[in-house]
Amino acid sequence: MTIEIIRPARTLQGSLVLPGDKSISHRYAMLAGLAEGTSRLANFSTGADPHSSLACMAALGAKIVEQEKHVEVTGVAGSFSQPLEALDCGNSGSTMRMLAGLIAAHPHTFTLVGDDSLTQRPMERIRKPLAQMGANLTLTDGHAPITIRGGALHAIDFATPIPSAQVKTAVLFAGLQATGTTSLSEAILTRDHSEHALRAFGATLTRRDGRLLIAGGQKLRAIDATVPGDLSSAAFFLCAALLFPDSNLILDAVGLNPTRSALLDVVAALGAKIRLLNVEEHHGELVGTIQVNANPAGAPAQPFLISGALTAQLIDELPVLAAVAPYTRGGIIVRDAQELRVKESDRIALVASNLQAMGAQVTERADGLEIPGGQTLHGATIDSGADHRIAMAFSIAGLRATSETEIQGAEAASISFPEFFTHLKTLCPE
Ligand code: S3P
Repeated sequence: MTIEIIRPARTLQGSLVLPGDKSISHRYAMLAGLAEGTSRLANFSTGADPHSSLACMAALGAKIVEQEKHVEVTGVAGSFSQPLEALDCGNSGSTMRMLAGLIAAHPHTFTLVGDDSLTQRPMERIRKPLAQMGANLTLTDGHAPITIRGGALHAIDFATPIPSAQVKTAVLFAGLQATGTTSLSEAILTRDHSEHALRAFGATLTRRDGRLLIAGGQKLRAIDATVPGDLSSAAFFLCAALLFPDSNLILDAVGLNPTRSALLDVVAALGAKIRLLNVEEHHGELVGTIQVNANPAGAPAQPFLISGALTAQLIDELPVLAAVAPYTRGGIIVRDAQELRVKESDRIALVASNLQAMGAQVTERADGLEIPGGQTLHGATIDSGADHRIAMAFSIAGLRATSETEIQGAEAASISFPEFFTHLKTLCPE
């Protein structure tokens, strides 16, 4: 286990180019793996999770070559081969859930396995719709390992019962290869990277009466693409900018997809000035430069409420928002976030216990947290719970603590952002 020591910092200053978005990298890896031809994916995520997706594609017959500046994926032109061993999804829920939909129509037997954390995460949510499409999935007590006996699938009409882009994607990827037209509706719109990625690879998706329609039997062709920088990785530094009155940070070529960018509004509402520059669209994804400065005069005295659709849109950024909340003027209240309990760790419980270890006042609720603002925190020993976002969130909290913070299990950061601690040291001098 790796320990990182975080010392109180003076400021946050500088500029960064972030590695590629984790969510988009997964989707490009999988669709390039299925497509015909060789895709060139520049700025592919450096995180371990998207590399689990690449490794699964290789096990299914795609050819993967990692070049210095891009990854080349030569796809199987619609026909995955029988893997020789279990498909190892590592720590990655995205890999396991989306891959299940991608491979279910292929006439082989697949076993999907993951690490201890992934093996505890709920998988019934993908088994149900895929079984309705005719897929044969066997779970282990609702979890991985998953066995899929692949075969012909048929289209369904599906309304997602929980907001989950991974479940939506599993159904879209299966629908792409089913007979008939699959239709899908979401009560709360989740990140739409799969929709953009499918179109980029040549598939047709339409929207009618609020439903997403995808016809089966469509073929994909390879693309050349640059993955936008990861806004969920940027989130750690954007939240850190709230902590120093003279902070000034520029993040270049970051993904600004509107289904992901609620964080920018929340950071602004908590007391930051944010400017977006050079915004462009690539393969349906918005990309641009973010400049952020603290704006303490704009911070509200009342707690900022995060609930409903906003909670779903901020789901990956809630740990870091909670970790900086005690330092904000009015604090935050998070509701409707029960999904946080089944992420890489129980993020509600771990955020609460780690904040308490730093001396913060915090109330844990079944579906969220209440964290008053205006608090002073001291350094503490932090348990990352082997969860990347907890390790990074509490490194940010440690920047404004009155003493040293020790992050235990800091190596977890490499799941999504291996460069995190290097950037932190450059941007936040002691
Ligand atoms: C993701 C969707 C979200 C998110 C995860 C990545 C994706 O999970 O928390 O980090 O890439 O589709 P859910 O689908 O479980 O909400």
